[in-house]
Amino acid sequence: MLVFEKTFLAEEIEQLIEKYGNARSALLPILQEIQSKHRYISDYAQQEVARHLSIQPVEVYSVISFYAFLNSEPKGRNIVRVCKTISCDMKNKISIVKAIERELGIKMGETTDDNKFTIEYTNCLGLCDEGPAMGINEQVFTKLTPETAVKHLHEVVG
Ligand code: FES
Repeated sequence: MLVFEKTFLAEEIEQLIEKYGNARSALLPILQEIQSKHRYISDYAQQEVARHLSIQPVEVYSVISFYAFLNSEPKGRNIVRVCKTISCDMKNKISIVKAIERELGIKMGETTDDNKFTIEYTNCLGLCDEGPAMGINEQVFTKLTPETAVKHLHEVVG
């Protein structure tokens, strides 16, 4: 990260501290705002937030790891999450994974070169009787086939 980017981010975090305070309860809303603006929370941002809240960076990282909507790595503009939990697994989720990997030319956990898509696994999406299921950003799709999964990729993004 360049020096001016760090300075800019440090100022942003200071403004968030002014807005939310420096109590531990401010951690999640601050992280959500950083995520929303930058699409991920860099190591530097994690350290700065920890310093302001007087907590360890590892505590910040553990909160980011816990919530699927927070990321510590840069991700694509569209996040595709395929359910890896048992019901979807038994309904051949692997065929969905292979289809979207083939379509996008990347493997699970990766981001396309144009930053358009990141594909990853997620835990149960709560629609187990309608699996296999996947989410694209905020939308969830069920009863997928390899063909419909690929079709949804293009429909959502346009
Ligand atoms: S197991 Fe996939 S939605 Fe629940």
